[in-house]
This record gives sequence, C-alpha cells and structure tokens, in this order.
Amino acid sequence: MESVKKLVVLSGAGMSAESGLRTFREMGGLWEEYDVYEVASPEGWEKDRELVLRFYNDRRKQLQDALPNRGHFALAEMEKDFDVAIVTQNVDDLHERAGSSKILHLHGELKKSQSTVDPDLVYDIEGWELNPGDLCDKGSQLRPHIVWFGEAVPAIEAAAAVVSEADILVIIGTSMNVYPAAGLINYARRGTPVYLIDPNEVVVAGHSGITVIRKGASEGVDELIRMIRDE
Ligand code: OAD
Repeated sequence: MESVKKLVVLSGAGMSAESGLRTFREMGGLWEEYDVYEVASPEGWEKDRELVLRFYNDRRKQLQDALPNRGHFALAEMEKDFDVAIVTQNVDDLHERAGSSKILHLHGELKKSQSTVDPDLVYDIEGWELNPGDLCDKGSQLRPHIVWFGEAVPAIEAAAAVVSEADILVIIGTSMNVYPAAGLINYARRGTPVYLIDPNEVVVAGHSGITVIRKGASEGVDELIRMIRDE
C-alpha cells in the first residue's frame, strides 16, 4: 500500500480574505489604516496599551462574525487523502473551525491572552474583549497572545521541522514579506513540489520551479486538488 503523503500548507492573511477578514499589505489592508508599530510592537504596547487592546478587540469582534470559507473547508477535507499539516501566520481560528486537525500558529492566536510577566501564562478570552485591568494569575496586565514585530517567534523551529517533512508544500495567501515565516520554504527538502495560490503576483526570492495558481484561496485549492490528483 502506498504511504500517505504529507502535505504542508503555509497560509497567510489571503486565506481568510474570502471570509471577510482584511489582509495587511494590500490596498485597503490593515497596515494602510493603522501604523503597524503603534499596534503590533512591544514599543507600541508600552506607549499606548488602550490603543493596542482596542485594535485587537476590533479584530476579535469581526472574527466572531466571520466563517471559514470554501478554501478552509477544502483543506480540512484533504485530510481524507493526505497527512495535512497547516502552518499559519493567521491569528484567526478559521482553519480550526473548518475542521483541520494539525494547525500551528506562528504569530499567535487572537482568541487568547497572555501574561505580561510570564509568556507561558496563556488564557482563552471569553467573548471579544480584553481590557485594561484584566490580569493574569500573577497580577499583571494581560496582553493579546500575538507575536509582535521585533519579538521572537517561539513556534518557528517546530514549523521548520514540519516543513522539512513535506512531500508537497502549498503556500496560500501570503505576500512572503515577513520573516522568519517567509524563510520556512527553505526548509523543504530538495525536489519537494511547491504550489503557490494567490490572485496576485508574489515574489519568492531564490526559488524557481514553483507552480503558481493565480486564484483566490477557494478556487485555488480546488485547482490544486485537481492538479495533484492528476499527477
Ligand atoms: P499580507 O497582507 O502581507 O499578504 C496577503 C496576501 O494574500 C497577498 O499576497 C494577497 O495577494 C493575497 N490574497 C488576497 N486575497 C486573496 C484571496 N482571496 N485568496 C488568496 N490570497 C489572497 O499578509 P501576510 O503575508 O499573511 O503579522 O502577512 C504576514 C504577517 O504580517 C501577518 O501574520 C501579520 C502581518 O503584519 C503580525 O501581525 C504579527
């Protein structure tokens, strides 16, 4: 019997665009409206905690009303035929809600908070609000459980290990601008087929031979399934 192939997905904000969540760097993206350092860096947090809490409260509130899209569901379905592992830069829980079982969040999770004195103290947020005065068990203010610019990415080694086991690597909806996430492609074994699903051009430095599917996530995953079935 043929062994089940390992399909590793690297997903970014474009994965959730069809669910109504805004991407970061496109026209109309979040970083056009907000200064990334004000709302997504340790310096921004020190400067104005209320602004940062409000920014993530807004994101969390929108997430409550969002649903996984056909692309998320199709990836979950693929678990019937492949050993699927998802490494996502997204902080939403749409892969989880679509039913995917192996998900690694590189940049944290919107629906969790963490202590400002002990990053290992992580809690689920009930509802959508995290407010000034919400404290961890050690008595310090809780912050969003998000990896901010300038912070280490604790899950990067685990993610690199997952990518190094891929038989097929699929990149969906990321502009490949943010490191170390964008560097994960370099951990794929030589000769691993790489597919890239994005409606816009994405420059992947130093890589040739990538099969580009220039479509949105839902149609793109359908196309991917057709392509790898025919191989
Ligand atoms: P970007 O906003 O940089 O890139 C989004 C990508 O999604 C672009 O390449 C778009 O062309 C593509 N896209 C748009 N609509 C799509 C659709 N319907 N289907 C598929 N793709 C689509 O987002 P990321 O690369 O995820 O970090 O950004 C990486 C990190 O930067 C984020 O995790 C976030 C941000 O700052 C933190 O906040 C820590």
